[in-house]
Amino acid sequence: MKIFVDSANLGEIEEALQRGFPAGITTNPSILSKEEKGDFREHIKKIIGLIEKYGYDIPLSVEVFSTKPEEMVAQAEDFVRHFGAYRNLNVKVPIGWDELAVIRALRRRSVKVNCTCCMSYNQAIMAARAGANYVSLFYGRIRDTGYDAASIVRQVRATLREWSHPSEIIVGSIRHIMDINEALQAGADIVTVPPKFFRQMTQHPKTDEAVQQFVTDFQKWLS
Ligand code: E4P
Repeated sequence: MKIFVDSANLGEIEEALQRGFPAGITTNPSILSKEEKGDFREHIKKIIGLIEKYGYDIPLSVEVFSTKPEEMVAQAEDFVRHFGAYRNLNVKVPIGWDELAVIRALRRRSVKVNCTCCMSYNQAIMAARAGANYVSLFYGRIRDTGYDAASIVRQVRATLREWSHPSEIIVGSIRHIMDINEALQAGADIVTVPPKFFRQMTQHPKTDEAVQQFVTDFQKWLS
């Protein structure tokens, strides 16, 4: 079970890296578009700089931003040229018929691929079979369509296990803390979480109550 940081914000990423738990970072074009306008390659290099500064060697996903397969391959090559020195770079490619050929082309060049935007069992299985290192299932967006996202994660997990298939399941599109719990219990290898949830994941009113009681009792005894 691993937790990734679903953000391109340098402050959020740094806060998480300082706390030891991140096992990876995922970005997408929408997430990047929330940052200050500028050269996106320089921004990705800054993320890599932070990962290295804090002594991690964790996967970083950067997504292609075209719908044309040949442009996707060219963009992936551009990513490798600019960020390839970071050996844990993953190129995110959306699932689709033509996109499977992109995944294969990249895998044959030993580029690690995170196949993203999977909303169904079939899509995830096809992505894995095409050679994607990671298949990303979009929990919140699946539920938006009225389907049971946990059961899709469970089914993909069961099939990959049956095949002893090495692709790892990332669950993204997290909307509530409960999504994280459910996705992990359903068999996700990884949940990629928006940083706004991290602080809340460490907190509980009964914890505050207990800590306050311990400090107060001991202060009384000391005085
Ligand atoms: C992660 O890899 C995905 O890009 C991300 O979690 C999508 O989340 P959204 O459905 O909130 O856009």
